Amino acid sequence: MTTPIDATTTPAWTELTALSEALVPDLRGWFAADPGRVDRLSFELADLHVDLSKNLVDDRVVAALVRLAEQTGVAERFAAMLRGDHINTTEDRPVLHTALRRPPGASPPLVVDGQQVDHDVQRVLDAMSAFADRVRSGEWTGITGKPVKTVVNIGIGGSHLGPAMVSAALEPYADAGISARFVSNIDPFDLAHKTKDLDPETTLVVVASKTFTTLETLTNARLARDWLWAGLEAAGAIDGSDAQKKDAVAHHFVAVSTALDKVEAFGIDPANAFEVWDWVGGRYSVGSAIGLSLVIELGPDVFREFLAGFHAIDEHMASTPLASNVPVVMGLLNVWYTNFLGAQSHAVLPYAQQLSRFPAYLQQLTMESNGKRVRWDGSPVTTETGEIFWGEPGTNGQHAFYQLLHQGTRLIPADFIAFVNPAYPLTDDGRDVHGLFIANFLAQTKALAFGKTAEEVEAEGTTGALVAARTCPGNRPTTSIFAPALTPRVLGELIALYEHITFTQGVVWGINSFDQWGVELGKQLALQIAPAVEGDAAAYDAQDASTRALLDYYRAHR
Ligand code: F6P
Repeated sequence: MTTPIDATTTPAWTELTALSEALVPDLRGWFAADPGRVDRLSFELADLHVDLSKNLVDDRVVAALVRLAEQTGVAERFAAMLRGDHINTTEDRPVLHTALRRPPGASPPLVVDGQQVDHDVQRVLDAMSAFADRVRSGEWTGITGKPVKTVVNIGIGGSHLGPAMVSAALEPYADAGISARFVSNIDPFDLAHKTKDLDPETTLVVVASKTFTTLETLTNARLARDWLWAGLEAAGAIDGSDAQKKDAVAHHFVAVSTALDKVEAFGIDPANAFEVWDWVGGRYSVGSAIGLSLVIELGPDVFREFLAGFHAIDEHMASTPLASNVPVVMGLLNVWYTNFLGAQSHAVLPYAQQLSRFPAYLQQLTMESNGKRVRWDGSPVTTETGEIFWGEPGTNGQHAFYQLLHQGTRLIPADFIAFVNPAYPLTDDGRDVHGLFIANFLAQTKALAFGKTAEEVEAEGTTGALVAARTCPGNRPTTSIFAPALTPRVLGELIALYEHITFTQGVVWGINSFDQWGVELGKQLALQIAPAVEGDAAAYDAQDASTRALLDYYRAHR
């Protein structure tokens, strides 16, 4: 195992410390004095136009940040990831989500730990495509011969957020009359609500679980199976015999997992199971068979386009010098704000209603990856790690929390994401509504950067205490990501961009971004407490005083 380089002992860290202490943010002044700033800090990254010019950096800061990436070995570690080194040290695994999007026939073929990775990836993609084609064409039917109208994906974490986010984002591409729903929460409301108006005869359930052991997913899968059987029996489609129930599951359930034996034990025909591998982290898995519901809803061609978008960014990350490597520079900016300017959180503000789940998706990607307190060799981290990601689509956020962005006391870097062409162009009294939407995106980034001075407020006739209240200080950092349209390819590019931003931060901090041991404790305790909830006295007695009191309340009100 390589020892992580302690970023805080590098010359670049010392340089950045001095630069941060001397920094007097002045975006107005910097823009006025430097006509080349926007060009120097804007990048074309595949289909994405990325404008970093409204960040609180000058050329010296950017250069020192790039040296930090050099001195902490970001490029070397990315190369190690691509070739399949076991960079997930605590689980002793390679990390190969980038292999999911290598094009067919990529050369030289990727072989890791004896596995023909490219071959296996294409084999599963082909199987998913063939299955999706059968469902989409109506050749695959439910037990009563009716074609599928709804796919219900049951999964949680990475087996939910990716498919759910992409399904919403690419809704205009759903062209086969099949819609997808996503059940994740063990709160029984979720499954009950999402199946309430569905016809079991036209529903296909995809149980998506890498491990096929996750409590929420397996519980929901069993509930869905009961719902299916009950619905089919009520319709007279099956008689309730074991043989017919088994047949019903064969027609209405498929699975995605690494554990095909467990899939079979659940009653799903292994012929209807699609493989993932333990080298795909849950939060990096939307391009794997975990995306099956998307292939059914959107079609294999759309899914391949989506993967091609990821691959374009993987190539950029692998081969572009650090100073113009966009994911690296954006990851370094996050380090700058987190470790040198004291930012604690990061807003993601898509100006696209279709990306309503993108902030939640990024929460898992970034916070499960980089919310760590030890480094990849087990030693404590040497600086703050992780950022709290949050956000809502514009313009909804504008009428909720932007006030704090404009005039609050905290530094919150914000990423704005917008698209030139809308999915559904609509006009209001002859006026292009999307244009109005884009004007809001531009207005917000401008207001955050340049604010409104007291003199400008006074020039409008305001006097007294109101002047201060109406003054907006500006110098609130933003990044603007603009693209021609929210296509499958562009969405893949966007996700891969954030994956590699997250990677860059993880390397600088010396942490393993690919495990999630913290999640385990809660899972173990839930299993221990469950008997106490059900009334087991010994399990109740074993709890702490607060938990016992909460159990008392639960029982008293049940
Ligand atoms: O939240 C922990 C986690 O392991 C995630 O990383 C993963 O995406 C999720 O649980 C679901 O796991 P599985 O796909 O094995 O059901």
